[in-house]
Amino acid sequence: MRKIVIAIDGYSACGKSSTAKNVAKELNYRYIDSGAMYRAVTLYFLDHLVAITNSKEVEKAIREIQLSFRVNAKGVSELFMNGINVEKDIRKMRISENVSPVSALKEVREAMVAIQRKLGKDKGIVMDGRDIGSVVFPDAELKVFLTADILVRAFRRQKELLQRDDLVDIDTIVGNLASRDQIDSTRKESPLVKSADAFLIDTTHITIDEQVDEVIRLALSKMVGNRARSN
Ligand code: CDP
Repeated sequence: MRKIVIAIDGYSACGKSSTAKNVAKELNYRYIDSGAMYRAVTLYFLDHLVAITNSKEVEKAIREIQLSFRVNAKGVSELFMNGINVEKDIRKMRISENVSPVSALKEVREAMVAIQRKLGKDKGIVMDGRDIGSVVFPDAELKVFLTADILVRAFRRQKELLQRDDLVDIDTIVGNLASRDQIDSTRKESPLVKSADAFLIDTTHITIDEQVDEVIRLALSKMVGNRARSN
């Protein structure tokens, strides 16, 4: 079967990453978490006190950041920034609270999109984020847009954070998700929108396994469709 690009976009904490990771595993595709890249840039900006209102400082900082994904012994893709594994640090609330204004910067988006397109040039990739189907890969063979009730999303995120020994109260998480959804959807550069050709999946009442099965079913139909067209 021909390799395709699968773009999974949607609101914060809808299960995009878990879905994308599992779909990639089932199809033996590469998984790229584009949100992790924006989180890493935010970590760098916070640690180096980069003023996001100063475009010269922002451009200089971006030139100093080198990002790479490496697959660990368990087959899980992890993000390294300047040679250091940042997977744990980038999931903290301090990053969630600052990532959306950083991601709204034109300079940051251009640099990240260029890396993402390079990673996807050979297809056989599942990438999740906010603008993957709309901007990064507008020609992706399969586009999925995930949504879910905000309280359900908040409880799922709280559980994930607890698994990392990070206890955060539910009101703080709801506030953070709502604020990120608002900034991500209304920003000038690549706002979060559902592309007309994306399949909408509401994950409020379904399990991760059901989400994964649905995306795989859609992916297989696209792969077969592709092959039929090429014959
Ligand atoms: O995991 P969660 O859904 O909470 O967020 P994420 O995918 O890790 O993304 C973190 C933030 O990065 C988002 O709130 C966006 O501000 C930004 N982002 C973006 O602008 N474009 C992307 N393609 C992915 C993430």
